[in-house]
Amino acid sequence: MDSERDRELERRRQQVRAGGGEARQAKQRQQGKWTARQRLAALFDPDSFQELGMFVEHRSAEFGMADTEAPGDGVVTGFGQVDGRLVYAFAQDFTVLGGSLGEMHARKIHAIQDLALKSGAPIVAIADSGGARIQEGIDSLNGYGEIFRRNTMASGVIPQLSVVVGPSAGGAVYSPALTDFVLMAEGIGQMYITGPQVIKAVTGEDVTHEALGGAETHARKSGVAHLTFPDEPALFAGVKHLLSYLPSNNLASPPAAPAADPDPAAAAQLGNVVPDDPNKPYDVRQVILGLVDQGTFLEVQPGYAQNMVVGFGRLAGRVVAWCANQPRILAGCLDIDASDKLARFVRFADAFNLPLVTLVDTPGYLPGTAQEYGGIIRHGAKVLYAYSEASVAKISVVLRKAYGGAYLAMCSKSLGADLALALPTAEIAVMGPEGAANIIFRSEIERADDQDAMRKRLVAEYRNRFSSPYVAAARQFVDQVVTAEELRPVLISALWALGEKGEDRPAKKHGNIPL
Ligand code: HXC
Repeated sequence: MDSERDRELERRRQQVRAGGGEARQAKQRQQGKWTARQRLAALFDPDSFQELGMFVEHRSAEFGMADTEAPGDGVVTGFGQVDGRLVYAFAQDFTVLGGSLGEMHARKIHAIQDLALKSGAPIVAIADSGGARIQEGIDSLNGYGEIFRRNTMASGVIPQLSVVVGPSAGGAVYSPALTDFVLMAEGIGQMYITGPQVIKAVTGEDVTHEALGGAETHARKSGVAHLTFPDEPALFAGVKHLLSYLPSNNLASPPAAPAADPDPAAAAQLGNVVPDDPNKPYDVRQVILGLVDQGTFLEVQPGYAQNMVVGFGRLAGRVVAWCANQPRILAGCLDIDASDKLARFVRFADAFNLPLVTLVDTPGYLPGTAQEYGGIIRHGAKVLYAYSEASVAKISVVLRKAYGGAYLAMCSKSLGADLALALPTAEIAVMGPEGAANIIFRSEIERADDQDAMRKRLVAEYRNRFSSPYVAAARQFVDQVVTAEELRPVLISALWALGEKGEDRPAKKHGNIPL
C-alpha cells in the first residue's frame, strides 16, 4: 500500500465511503436511521461484503448536475455471506441526492439483480430514496421499469426481500411490491403511491406520512408489509432470521437445522387447546407452538387478516410452511384479505420447495355485502388455485370445523392434499349442523309442538351422523384420524415419506390465477 497508485485508490475509496458527507449522515442518525453502509454491515457476516460498482458516476449535465458529485451514484451494491450463505444486496444511500434513482444508480441495481439471478442466490433490496431523480427525468423512469422487469423474471427463482428504511414513494413502491417479502422499521420506512400533499390537494384528506404509509399501516391495514420491527437493529436481525428459512433458489432445498423438541409447556398443553365445543374460540398458534421445534415459528403478516395464520416453523429440523385458520378472530372464517394472504403464502412455499401443513378450523366464508361486492368470489378462488397448483408436499389436518367450500379450499384431498389428517374433534360436513338441520328437517321442525326442542334434537342427530371425521374417513377424504398428542410424530414421518415427492403439471406458458 505504498505506491502512489495504491494511495490514490485508497483516497477514492474513502471519498465514496463518505457518501453525502458528515452533515447529511448526522441528519440520518438524528432520525434514528442507519447509513447504507451500516445497514450492509449489519446484514452480512463480518468482512464478507464485496462491493461492486463503487466508482460509478452519473453522466447527467442538466439542472446543475454537471457540477454535482454523487459518490457511488447514491447506491451501494455487492454480495457477501449471510450466515455463510451467498446473498446479493443493494442499499440506497439517502445522503447522496436523497438516494434518488438516476440512470447509473439504476444500472448498478440492474447489474446486481442480474448476478443474483444468474448465481441463484437471494437478493435483499434496502430502500431509502426520494424516488426518481428529478434531474434525470425519463432515464430514471426507465431505470425503474428495468428493475420491475428483473423483479418479475426473478420471481419464483430466487427469494427477493425488500427492506424499507426510508421514503419509498410513487412508482418506487412497486419494486418492493413485486418481491416476496417487505420488511419495514416503525417510524423509519414509509411507502405510498401519492403523498400527503397530493392527497390533501385532491381529496382534502389530512394524513401524515407515517399514518399514510408507515410500518403499522402496512402491517395491519394494507397487508403490504410482511414483517415490521421497532428499529433498524431488530429489522436487520429479522432479515437474517427470515433468510434462514429460505432456500437460495427454486432448485435448492431450504436450509436444514438440527432437530429440536417443541416448547415443553406448549407440547404438554397440545391435547387441551382445541375445545370440544365447536363454538368456543382458541388461539391456533398454541397448536402450532405445540408442534414445531422450540423457538422456530416465524409468523408472517401477523397483524393482517388475523383470521388466517401463516408462517415458517421447523419440524425435526425441516422447514415447513404453516397455514391455519384462526378461530379466535372472526371464528376463523375465510374472507377477502385472509384469502389473499393465504394464496400468496402457498404460492411462495410451492415456488421454493417448502412443504405445506394446513391446520383447518373454519365455519366457511364470511357472509355479507361488503365481502360479495369486494369480490370474495375472485379472491377466494385464489386459494383454490394456489393449493391445486402447488406440487410440494401438502398435508392438511382438520382440527375442528371444516364446512362446505371452506373445507374444500383449505387443502382438501380434492385439491390434491397428499395426506389428510383429522383430530377426533373434526366436524367435516357440507355445512354447519344448525344450518343443515334447519334446511333438511324444516317440515319436521315446523310440525313439532315444541319447535325448539325438536330443532335441538335434529341438530344433534345431524351432528352425530355427519359432523365427525369418520364419514370423510370412510371415503378416504381423511387418511387417518389421530389425537393431538400423536400429531407431531405423524407429521414428521409423513414429511419424511413425502420428502422425494414429485408431481408433474401440464406444459403451459403460465396459468391464469384469478387476480
Ligand atoms: C433528486 C432528491 C430527490 C429526488 C430528494 N432529493 N428527493 N434529488 N430527486 N427525487 C434530494 C434533496 O434535494 C436533498 O438534496 C436531499 O435529497 C435530501 O432531501 P430532503 O428533502 O432534504 O430530505 P427530507 O426533508 O428528509 O425529505 C425527504 C423526501 C423529500 C420526503 C423524500 O426529499 C421529497 O419529497 N423528495 C421528492 C420526492 C419525489 O417527488 N420524488 C419523485 C417521485 S416520482 P440536498 O442537496 O439538499 O441534500 C417517482 C416516479 C417513479 O419517483 C416512477 C417509477 C415507475
